Amino acid sequence: MVYGARTGVPLLVGLSIGVVLALLTSDFSWQHSSFVRRCPAGLFSGPAIAESPTDYVDNAEHWKVVVKKLPMVQPNSHQNAPHPESKVVRARFAATELGIREKLIVIILGQSSLSVALNASIGRHVPRVQLFVETSRIDAEMATMSNIVPYRPNGQHAHVSIFNSIFNQTLHENYDWFFVIPDTSYVNPFRLNDIVNHVNWNVPRVLGAANSDGNCMLQGGILLSNPAMQSLIQQRHLCHSIVKPSDHEALELCIRHATNLSCSNFVKKYDYRWWKVEDGGDAAGASAVHDRVLTLSKYPGFNESLTVSQLLSDADARSLHEHFVRVEITKIDEEIKLLDLESRDLSLANVDGPSWPTAIPSYSKAPNRYQVSKWEYFTETEIFRNKPNQNVEPLDGNDLLDIKEVIAAAKEMVLKDYSTKDLSFFGLRNGYRLFDPRRGMDYMVDLIYRFSDDLNGESESVVKRIHLCRPIVNTRLMHQVPYVKEDTDVTVVIPVQSSDDATALRKFIRRHRDLCISSPVDNRQTRIAVVLRGIDPTTARLIGSDLSDLKATCKSWQMDTTLLLLRSEVKSFFTIAALDAAVDHYGNQMIYLYLSPYADFHKEFYDRIRINTIKHFQVYVPIAFSEFHPQIVNAYNILMESEDKMASGKSDSANLADNMFIDNEQPVIERLRRLNAMSSDKNKLEKVLLVHKDQGSFDTNDFSVFSIYGDDYVQMRDSFREKYGEGAMFNMLDLAPMFTGHSSFHLLRAVEPGLRLRYRPKMCSTKLPTADYARCVLSRSETLATKAQLAKIIFSHLSGKS
Ligand SMILES: *[C@@H]1O[C@H](CO)[C@@H](O)[C@H](O)[C@H]1NC(C)=O
Ligand SMILES: *[C@@H]1O[C@H](CO)[C@@H](O)[C@H](O)[C@H]1NC(C)=O
Ligand SMILES: *[C@@H]1O[C@H](CO)[C@@H](O)[C@H](O)[C@H]1NC(C)=O
Ligand SMILES: *[C@@H]1O[C@H](CO)[C@@H](O)[C@H](O)[C@H]1NC(C)=O
Repeated sequence: MVYGARTGVPLLVGLSIGVVLALLTSDFSWQHSSFVRRCPAGLFSGPAIAESPTDYVDNAEHWKVVVKKLPMVQPNSHQNAPHPESKVVRARFAATELGIREKLIVIILGQSSLSVALNASIGRHVPRVQLFVETSRIDAEMATMSNIVPYRPNGQHAHVSIFNSIFNQTLHENYDWFFVIPDTSYVNPFRLNDIVNHVNWNVPRVLGAANSDGNCMLQGGILLSNPAMQSLIQQRHLCHSIVKPSDHEALELCIRHATNLSCSNFVKKYDYRWWKVEDGGDAAGASAVHDRVLTLSKYPGFNESLTVSQLLSDADARSLHEHFVRVEITKIDEEIKLLDLESRDLSLANVDGPSWPTAIPSYSKAPNRYQVSKWEYFTETEIFRNKPNQNVEPLDGNDLLDIKEVIAAAKEMVLKDYSTKDLSFFGLRNGYRLFDPRRGMDYMVDLIYRFSDDLNGESESVVKRIHLCRPIVNTRLMHQVPYVKEDTDVTVVIPVQSSDDATALRKFIRRHRDLCISSPVDNRQTRIAVVLRGIDPTTARLIGSDLSDLKATCKSWQMDTTLLLLRSEVKSFFTIAALDAAVDHYGNQMIYLYLSPYADFHKEFYDRIRINTIKHFQVYVPIAFSEFHPQIVNAYNILMESEDKMASGKSDSANLADNMFIDNEQPVIERLRRLNAMSSDKNKLEKVLLVHKDQGSFDTNDFSVFSIYGDDYVQMRDSFREKYGEGAMFNMLDLAPMFTGHSSFHLLRAVEPGLRLRYRPKMCSTKLPTADYARCVLSRSETLATKAQLAKIIFSHLSGKS
């Protein structure tokens, strides 16, 4: 009790002091059962300020909801009348809700086919053009236009019907700016956009060329801001009584009356420039605008005009538009030049000096220590690449041409430098190159020069370092990739043509069964079609029973399996024969995944197949992880293990190589066999293949797995046959040449960690086309083992003897 009071009392006192202070410093007044708290600062301000209301209106307090009625749409009495209760309530567009509007509408009051010419020239530069034409004046040419609104004057001035129909279409609410012009005047859309994009539309304004009464003249065009147009439309009833000799004058007066705004001929820094071409009294024919554009353009100010009148023909409108487009292009070119100069000046302040191309960071900088870029080193004969298995390659082919060109360009640059005039070129010392996707290929070359008068080569040579860049001149964005869903059916085609393949396939089926069990439900259809050629009937029967077993296990996967037997006489390229058989069997409306029996994959691989294969657009050729030769990897591991043991002193046997009687004379194959024999007992079970640099590598030369729509396959096959003849189809490594060279088909290659290919011996027939053979050999050597593994085994007789 006492304890509580000791803390409670000070707390209570503090609280009450706080409340009293708050009451003293602020003024509460109780009104209508709610209280308003005035800002304490108001107590100290003078009475003058309190009395006169400031400009600032806080309308947050007085807001109320105004539901605007949409203009009624007359229901069509010919159609069966809808039941009132079944009326559909449509949500309004977000743009309407949020008050987002288009910037500008150009309203052309049309009389002749000139409107069509005007629409064609300015239509593509402004958001919307709307034509208002009297019904009786619409000819065949105008009738084809979609943005035309016909009206019937009914004995009144034209503006009455025009404003009514603007109101009916709610045009006055949907734009920031309104430009009204008769079709006998040309409007320069670039100047117009300049004004509407830089002037606030929020203020009521009527811009134009004023006549003596202060009304804007329609002939010169009239630009109204949204509030001006709103009041014009709302007050348009004031104009019903106007009677004037011409429709134009009536409209001018109506705008003045209804908006109560006088015409202003400038806003901010923009003058309203109307160029009125005088009727050339001299020769009637020569006075037409299109003949005089060139002369007119010499007058100062003509190039900046917003409107030009009087147009007499389509040719006038066209030539004026061409002229103003030219003016605009000249202007933009000048701006670009200016920008270029500016950025060049700015880059002088750069620590590294001016960069090239302008305004792009210079290439010497690595963004951080994890992303240090790797330059390729080259000499005149060799190039050192960043490859895992190969570091030096002879310089040939395109690389050679590339380097030659770069050296020539570098020499030219050195020549430009006057101080080098008594040097003569001796050779390339070395160079570096690097591809930067933002710039292109960057080069750094060191050229050796000698003094020309030094014939014996006694004095020291001079090395000049030159930086060069081969810029990316053309990039293309790929837009419009078709939309795909993941729910398509996939048919997996697996070719089997040897007993090794058959063994691999049976393992494949076992793995696939485990896959079905581990992820039970999939409501998309997956079919497996195994195509056999040259397989003995017993094996075929075994595979058949494995397949039906798989089908039963994978019921929840909608799995279907088939065994297709090809006669051994069918000698055509097996991939083509197998796909043909599958497409014949299942039709060409689905995705075919051509998969090696050695494949070992994750379930997500199917999803990526479904997403990346696009009908009539894309073939997907995943870059699979290819397993290294298991015996080599195994032997390497054994050697490493024994070395480790020896190093840590755990092994009492002195030296593995000595124990194994490995010597220099022994063939490597024999050595491999012995090493593997040491651990043969523990490796009965199939090991899981992990994506690891010592287990295999992503083989970019391998095109053996791909997925494609049946339709596309048939089309590509036929066009390939047409191009290269039937003979080419018998002798190929894979279908890669068939997929390339189509303008509308894309080939997607992507590293696919979910797909692993078990080791299988690769045969490269010398009868293959040269490119295919080279690719095959490269693929074979790169997926054998790493350099370190091979070296370890080849030099294993030296191990521990160093
Ligand atoms: C009028 O201009 C619009 C917008 O550029 C264009 O789509 C339409 O085809 C034009 N109409 C005619 C008849 O030229
Ligand atoms: C505008 O709509 C109203 C009723 O919806 C109609 O009476 C009037 O004739 C229309 N005016 C024009 C110019 O289309
Ligand atoms: C029109 O504007 C003038 C001054 O700009 C103003 O005195 C006058 O009351 C306005 N008339 C109407 C009807 O709003
Ligand atoms: C107007 O523009 C044209 C085309 O760009 C040009 O030839 C002409 O000299 C310009 N006129 C003036 C007065 O600058």
